Amino acid sequence: MVMTGFGTRMTSSLDCPYPQEEENMPSNTHSTTDQSYDRVSIAFHWITVILILAIFVLALFPGLVKGSIALHKSLGLTVLALVPLRLLWRFTAGRQPRHNGNDPAILRLAAGGAHAALYLLLLVTPLLGWMFVDAKGMELSYFGIKMPALALYDRPFAWMVYAWKSWVAYGLLALIVAHAGAAIGYHAIIRRDGVLRSMIPGRRLPGVSA
Ligand code: HEM
Ligand code: HEM
Repeated sequence: MVMTGFGTRMTSSLDCPYPQEEENMPSNTHSTTDQSYDRVSIAFHWITVILILAIFVLALFPGLVKGSIALHKSLGLTVLALVPLRLLWRFTAGRQPRHNGNDPAILRLAAGGAHAALYLLLLVTPLLGWMFVDAKGMELSYFGIKMPALALYDRPFAWMVYAWKSWVAYGLLALIVAHAGAAIGYHAIIRRDGVLRSMIPGRRLPGVSA
């Protein structure tokens, strides 16, 4: 069976093009992934992870570096620019791994939903940040380049947007923790199925190029 969109594409174990890989696996290992993400998708994924980590650290510990909030905003805008490029790549030239359908359908659906929600929150959070800054009457610059305004000056609206942004940002954080927990705890430790490996640079299975 093959699912498109954010659901993981699956094949039955009979379709696995790496039978030798299956044979070489220890018996308690479930080889359910027959490819990895392509290099560009992997780069997008881990660059985003580093940016999000820096964005949270800068917002929650602003005393750590001088100009931390300005950097927070510029890195947030970088995420906002990267996500559409990443999605464009994903739905055109990008390659998603073909996870064999060993997981229950409900888990595969949850993973697809979580990935879609991650993309959505990666767009909505910086957009709210941008609107908050404009509505508060502050000038926004991207690493020194003046940015256009997304919202008009309106203090009550600004604080409402700020509250939304907080909720959305902490929702994103919770989703990231669940996502990373599933990748490490469920896929790498419990099932040992190669899903985590499919997103690790240089951990491609034999015979897979790019
Ligand atoms: C993925 C992107 C972003 C994430 C995850 C994020 C997250 C956060 C978090 C967790 C806080 C501190 C907690 C709070 O008070 O709610 C915060 C504060 C803030 N964020 Fe963001 N943010 C992002 C993007 C942006 C962008 C693009 C802007 C502006 C263009 C922005 C402007 C601000 C401002 C002005 C604050 C208040 C800082 C202060 O306390 O003075 N954020 N953000
Ligand atoms: C800022 C933090 C993170 C974000 C925003 C994020 C976002 C995403 C998204 C959107 C996908 C779906 C890719 C696609 O098919 O288009 C994905 C896949 C994946 N992520 Fe993350 N991720 C984050 C952190 C992590 C961490 C910390 C790990 C591991 C320790 C991880 C492991 C994976 C794995 C293994 C996949 C592939 C899942 C599959 O194919 O079913 N991610 N991530």
